[in-house]
Amino acid sequence: RILIIDFGSQVTQLIARRVRESGVYSEIHPFNAVDDALLESYAPKGIILSGGPASVTWDDAPSAPKKVFEMGIPVLGICYGQQTMMEQLGGKVETSDHQEFGRAIVDIKEDCALFHGVWNVGTQEQVWMSHGDRVGKLAPGFRVVATSEGAPYAAVANDEKRFYAVQFHPEVVHTPHGAQLLKNFTHGVAGCSGDWTMAAFKDQEIAKIREQVGDGKVICGLSGGVDSSVVAVLLHEAIGEQLTCVFVDTGFMRMGEAEQVVTLFRDHYNIQLIHVDASEKFFTALGDEFDPEKKRKTIGGLFIDIFEEEANKVGGADFLAQGTLYPDVIESVSFTGGPSVTIKSHHNVGGLPERMNMKLVEPLRELFKDEVRDLGRELGLPDTFVDRHPFPGPGLAIRIPGQPLTPEKCDILRKADAIYLDEIRKAGLYDEIWQAFAVLLPVRTVGVMGDARTYDFVCALRAVTSTDGMTADYYHFDHEFLGRVSNRIINEVRGINRVVYDCTSKPPGTIEWE
Ligand code: XMP
Repeated sequence: RILIIDFGSQVTQLIARRVRESGVYSEIHPFNAVDDALLESYAPKGIILSGGPASVTWDDAPSAPKKVFEMGIPVLGICYGQQTMMEQLGGKVETSDHQEFGRAIVDIKEDCALFHGVWNVGTQEQVWMSHGDRVGKLAPGFRVVATSEGAPYAAVANDEKRFYAVQFHPEVVHTPHGAQLLKNFTHGVAGCSGDWTMAAFKDQEIAKIREQVGDGKVICGLSGGVDSSVVAVLLHEAIGEQLTCVFVDTGFMRMGEAEQVVTLFRDHYNIQLIHVDASEKFFTALGDEFDPEKKRKTIGGLFIDIFEEEANKVGGADFLAQGTLYPDVIESVSFTGGPSVTIKSHHNVGGLPERMNMKLVEPLRELFKDEVRDLGRELGLPDTFVDRHPFPGPGLAIRIPGQPLTPEKCDILRKADAIYLDEIRKAGLYDEIWQAFAVLLPVRTVGVMGDARTYDFVCALRAVTSTDGMTADYYHFDHEFLGRVSNRIINEVRGINRVVYDCTSKPPGTIEWE
């Protein structure tokens, strides 16, 4: 396996992804948490030093532990990683007038183990750069294997020690052969076998869970989402009857979703499942509230209360299972420390474990979202379930904006939403879209149906493409499709007489309306 030492680059996670995609297990650890003990216990076959926002010319510049260069294993430095490697091994880094950001071209000067099968001497290759500083003097034992206009030491190598360093970022897609360069390092140089698969991971996790839990009892909150579902099925495979799942039904789920959860987990998987229909409690707690943040807080708080109450009824449970993912775990390396602005406070069950005095079981801690999906498939969860669009914790409650929530309004929205998703599936567009849903607006407008006047609600349709939910573009449906959906909704859902389509991207909009 490979150890990635993080110096705070925005794209460090991508290094881990690329390495794992090549069948090699990797973990990211922040530079200030890597010590000799960790290096010994982790026993990596190779180490990658990430990029980062600092400058090695600073007084207290972050660096890699000395031991990294004394273990006799290959090391690859990327961007800041290259600079600290050079500086620590006796070279020099300078602040350059010639900064490079974005696409750049490197000249391949000499043969190098990183380039095998991809880049040949004498060619020019596209890479992605993002640096102000650059190496000014090589550390002893290194030779230059590629140059660029702004970085005379774009790639350097010390073959004897198996140390390599690049100024560009091989982990981003804008460096077209970057993944292969990383694979050359992990497989070719470090000798990793590339046999890390999801099936192997599954077996390894099951063994770990059994060891951690022993004959203790575990409680798991099921939300109907992919992460908690995968956790539940994995735990069930590991410890069977020692697992009890609690599914708190807020009443804000989509059409048929609550029934689907119960059927899949209780009937199909035979998991002990407590299904709490708490919709009345949620409507009562929300009252006439229509402020988005207050709604989120109320729903999140009540959810925890109900979950705790049910979990206590199970009695004697020592562990709480959670679907924490890798991006939530990695300690971010922050140099500015400034507060970031809260746009929306996401409702989750943070704080629950402390309150309940239980130990945590988090078998997805090392996985990225798409790896969780792979694991779900490996565990036999149906594709239609595993590939579902993201759905927010507060559910339909944040899709009925600017008005008090009522069960009737939720029903109207649920019907419209189901028709919309049905048409998207029929048109074969579901997998192209990141998220699609209907929103029930707080306005009534006049219409005419048959010969009669109507005065009903407006429904807005939203669909976006995205890769991570951070930025998004609205989906460009053809008008015929939109017309068809609009017709069906107005004809089939009593209470809606007008349909509009939201063509706002994010930013400036957000994906949800609240
Ligand atoms: P926004 O609306 O912020 O959404 O562009 C980005 C992603 O986050 C989801 N979302 C939430 N998920 N609790 C959640 O669990 C929330 O309160 C919440 N608000 C937004 C949203 O559906 C999208 O996938």
